[in-house]
Parts: sequence; structure tokens; C-alpha cells
Amino acid sequence: MPQTFDRIAPSYDKMIRPYERRFLGRWRAETLKELPTDAIILEIGAGTGANFAYYPNCKQAVASEISCEMLKFAAEKTASIDLVEADAEGLPFASDSFDAVFATLVFCSIADPAAAFAEVIRVLKPNGHVILLEHVRPNGLLGYVFDALSVLTVAVMDDHFNRRTARLAEAAGLEVLEVRSKALGIVNLIICRKQAK
Ligand SMILES: C[S@@+](CC[C@H](N)C(=O)[O-])C[C@H]1O[C@@H](n2cnc3c(N)ncnc32)[C@H](O)[C@@H]1O
Repeated sequence: MPQTFDRIAPSYDKMIRPYERRFLGRWRAETLKELPTDAIILEIGAGTGANFAYYPNCKQAVASEISCEMLKFAAEKTASIDLVEADAEGLPFASDSFDAVFATLVFCSIADPAAAFAEVIRVLKPNGHVILLEHVRPNGLLGYVFDALSVLTVAVMDDHFNRRTARLAEAAGLEVLEVRSKALGIVNLIICRKQAK
């Protein structure tokens, strides 16, 4: 799995540039606006650091990523964010240590999203927020198209086109506060909270 993104890393920024200009940049800004300021925040699957320009003022910002090649490109974009090579399914952080955890376009490619959500919940402080921008399985007939597409995208690039990410978050024990549907429901901005014990 990290090999897929190691391979894509040198061309990733160029590949997504047209989408950044048309809608992705705007959606990233909207997503990261949901983060608390002056807090300790963790990004999962930070990739080449496409979100760094949108980070709020932080007490501490940590960007984690499984692919060391993606991280090399991320390192060129920041001097102040702590970069950590880490698998979301086994995060190397203490329990209850972050005020918020976020990810953009990541849960579609995590092999075991339930394991990753369990880790996100573990490292998050009680009442902390999880903010996700994810492409998901849309409702209605389009959902079946995405089921079929997913067979191909998983085989080619480990990308699940039919993940029901808000449902997975809820099943993991997060309280889903809001789902903002974008692009016919193909993309969701999902806002969750870790319930206090
Ligand atoms: C489509 S890219 C998105 C990168 C970046 N978040 C963005 O919005 O441009 C998906 C990223 O998730 C990372 N990833 C996939 N599985 C992961 C895992 N189990 N733990 C951490 N990162 C993972 C990949 O290496 C890749 O960098």
C-alpha cells in the first residue's frame, strides 16, 4: 500500500493541480476552517502537504503519512509542522493527546478503516473533533456505478470508490455531527466528535 503512493508521489501535486484550482482548494479551506485554533492537531495521510497552506494557528501541528516518498515532498512545504511517518492503523502517539484529528481524501485508501478510526479515537481527547473530507459512495443509482468502479480503482491504486465513511465513523463510536454533501454526494465533509467517557 505505501508503495502505491511512493510511486505516485513525484507526480501527485501536478496530477491534482487542475482540481485544486477548480474546487479542491476551496473544499480544503472549508474543511480546515472546522479545526480549533491554538490547539494540538493531527493530520492523517498528509500526502505531499496539500493542506499545509490552510492550517490554522496551532499550539502544535503534526502531519502523519504512511508513504515516506509523499513525506519528502511534504517536507519541502513546511518548517513548522512536525512530520511523522506513520500508519493510521497503528499511530505512534499517546492516548488522549490531540484536540482534533483530520484527513482529506485518505479513508478511501486505508486498508482497514475500522482499525484507523479506532486509533483516531484513541489519540483524540474526549470531546475532540474529527474532520474529514472524503470521496464516498453516493446514494441512489450512482452508488451502484461506484460499486462497479471500485473494483477497478482498488485493483489499480488501492482506492475504494464506494466507502461509506460517515457510517464507518459512526460504527467506530464517533458522534457524527454533520455531513456536508458535495458534488452529487460523491464528496462529503464529515464533522464528528469523540464522546466523553
Ligand atoms: C489521495 S492521497 C491524499 C493526500 C492528501 N491528504 C491530500 O488531500 O492531497 C491519500 C494519502 O493517504 C495515505 N495513506 C493511505 N493509507 C494510509 C494509512 N494506512 N496510514 C496513513 N496514510 C495513509 C497515502 O499514502 C496518501 O498519501
